[in-house]
Amino acid sequence: MRKVVMLFGLWSLLSLSHAQLTDTAEAEGEEEAVDLFTTPRTKLAAATSDFGFNLFRQLAARDPKAGVFLSPMSISAAFTQISMGASERAEKQIYRALRYHTLQDSQLHDTLRDLLSSLRASAKGFKSADRILLARKLRLRLEYLNSVEKQYGVRPQTLAAGARDLKTVNDWFKQQTGGKVEQVVPSLSRNTAMLPVGAAFLKGKWITRFSKANKMENFQRDGEAPALIPMMEQENYPVKMGIDPDLGCTIAQVPMEDGISMYFFLPDEVTQNLTLIEEALTAEFVQDLSNTLHAVQVLLTLPVIKLSYSTDLLPSLSDLGLSEWLAETDLVKITNQPVKLNAVHHKVVMETAPEGAEYASTTPTVNGQSLALTYRVDRPFLFLVRDEPSGALLFIGKVLNPRDIGRV
Ligand SMILES: *[C@@H]1O[C@H](CO)[C@@H](O)[C@H](O)[C@H]1NC(C)=O
Repeated sequence: MRKVVMLFGLWSLLSLSHAQLTDTAEAEGEEEAVDLFTTPRTKLAAATSDFGFNLFRQLAARDPKAGVFLSPMSISAAFTQISMGASERAEKQIYRALRYHTLQDSQLHDTLRDLLSSLRASAKGFKSADRILLARKLRLRLEYLNSVEKQYGVRPQTLAAGARDLKTVNDWFKQQTGGKVEQVVPSLSRNTAMLPVGAAFLKGKWITRFSKANKMENFQRDGEAPALIPMMEQENYPVKMGIDPDLGCTIAQVPMEDGISMYFFLPDEVTQNLTLIEEALTAEFVQDLSNTLHAVQVLLTLPVIKLSYSTDLLPSLSDLGLSEWLAETDLVKITNQPVKLNAVHHKVVMETAPEGAEYASTTPTVNGQSLALTYRVDRPFLFLVRDEPSGALLFIGKVLNPRDIGRV
């Protein structure tokens, strides 16, 4: 495991002598016990988060200059449904990519169903939907369609080919995401045999509201002039924070309703190269962070996010160890015929707004050192949204350019 060194006291600490710094780091930087991932549900959440981080790195590597957004639960849920129709060999291959091989859970499908339904509780502001589309001409086995429906409450959709299918598919995803994610599947061709689809919507619901909304402020860009974007701001905002000198970034955890948190990774420099941070991300690392970050109040300035992003994950999944399976999918419990995947559609929509149920205190707490702290997300950054009780990764994104977060 990577050693995490968090320095507390932040900016005020920077004035301390080097000897003191080292002492603090040694006293507080010991590896924390990871105490979250002990039940079947949290172990599954960790495995799925690690799958999400791996997929995110693959996507990011394909175009280092592009913003990337991902909600991995819907994708792993779709592939778990596919695995129910696979031969033993193919199931192993899928499980390995999904990181299920790290689990010894004989009730895996029940654990996943329960995890998904707890994450989709309405107070969290998170909606995700997944479905397998299958061409009727494959002569599908009814037992498979029935068992997926019984287990996950959603029957794989059969396609008769045609424009009407497309509308039915997209209407279903729109309805499942509260009307927020539209046109998840851009087109269907007659050659579509099997198409896994995952969609998610996240409405960031802060606990503490921001009093200044939609202030136009500069966002710094790597190699380009700054751009004005809407930001929200609040004094004495309660967050958890820490500096990670190894990653060259400051990390803040901002609490949201119903056990959700948003983590920001803000590099010290204005750079598009977030490789160091990307490579550090694992379920265990984020769990360590949640144990190590320090509660402070800051002048918090965040961009207003309103993003919509869609992508075909097939190439990235292929690079993630599925290429052998994709060459021979072996879906013997779905159909006798060979099945080829042409795409894996993923679409996410996310919004954050200044609203929150609580007001920040008007005066800083006694902790005098917090007076001068500011946290200003005004340059390329990485963020993730996590369900704290389970540790599940709901959303991850990399913002390099304001265009990435202002195009709904
Ligand atoms: C990005 O940063 C990493 C780690 O600091 C470095 O190894 C890599 O060469 C950088 N990539 C580019 C394209 O500058």
